[in-house]
Amino acid sequence: MRKTISTLLAVALAAGAAFSAHGAAAQDYPAQPITIIVPFSAGGPTDTVTRLVAQAMSEDLGQQIVVQNVGGAGGTLGAAQAATAAADGYTLLLHHIGMSTAPALYQSLPYDPQTDFAPIGLVTEVPMTIVARRDFEPETLEDLLAHIRENGENITYANAGVGAASQLCGMLLMDALDTRMTEVPYQGTGPAMTDLLGGQIDMMCDQTTNTTTQIQAGEIKAYAVTTPERIDALPDVPTAAEGGLENFELAIWHGLYAPVGTDPAIVERLSASLQTALATETVAQSFADLGTAPVPADQATPDALAEKLATQTELWAEVVAAAGVTPQ
Ligand code: MLT
Repeated sequence: MRKTISTLLAVALAAGAAFSAHGAAAQDYPAQPITIIVPFSAGGPTDTVTRLVAQAMSEDLGQQIVVQNVGGAGGTLGAAQAATAAADGYTLLLHHIGMSTAPALYQSLPYDPQTDFAPIGLVTEVPMTIVARRDFEPETLEDLLAHIRENGENITYANAGVGAASQLCGMLLMDALDTRMTEVPYQGTGPAMTDLLGGQIDMMCDQTTNTTTQIQAGEIKAYAVTTPERIDALPDVPTAAEGGLENFELAIWHGLYAPVGTDPAIVERLSASLQTALATETVAQSFADLGTAPVPADQATPDALAEKLATQTELWAEVVAAAGVTPQ
């Protein structure tokens, strides 16, 4: 009897200690710099969104936020690294639609997007643009589609690896035209843009957060935006539908995640900080200049991101299967 009571007492004390340590960690959070992993190269659209949000969250939290670029395999290498990071709130992941497409595109993904992460909140949904090097022959989207049908694999198409938004857009475009182009993978569309500007690559489909400035400067050619209506940042760029490419709408949603097991109090603190960051004039204006907008506050929440991830994972499994794409 005596032993049982002492054992129970020891267990209760240990639990209490664990709770107070957990509680103390959340209470003092953030007590050290936070790292946000971007699963693509620096200088691309995901990196751009992350650095804008990180700056505003850092000011809100009163703590340094370091952006770490971990490119490769369409964003899955960076996501895998984040999935196995310590669940202490000091390593986060900012990733996009690729979290919902990877399960359909990879046979053996080293993480489960829906169970290995603690969602913090949605960030933004970014339109895509079909673009080409400045001196590419086709003038209109209609000319481009005909040019692709005629020249197929003689055209080089840049993307950021299987599961990247740029690769998804290319997959949908080639499926719509029933024509293959020669795909050239990069660690992110930041470096791909360098080659597009230099004329080493013919075309790409990339997010306005990476193409708006170049299009406005006349450095690359824009054929279409993948939104139902034209966007304010690029009023002269027609929608895909206007150019004859029906049902070609694609918006690249982005979410902020922590590893599963992160203290819910820390997740809530991060969601509140994300909402504050998205409500700042700097982020709103920077996003608008790049053709996008922050999500409303009620979308920058764990439940909203979890719901988006679940519904999009189901959708993309069907789209990838319908496109006849075999997981690699
Ligand atoms: C992509 O999905 O293509 C990525 O957003 C590219 C990037 O962020 O570098």
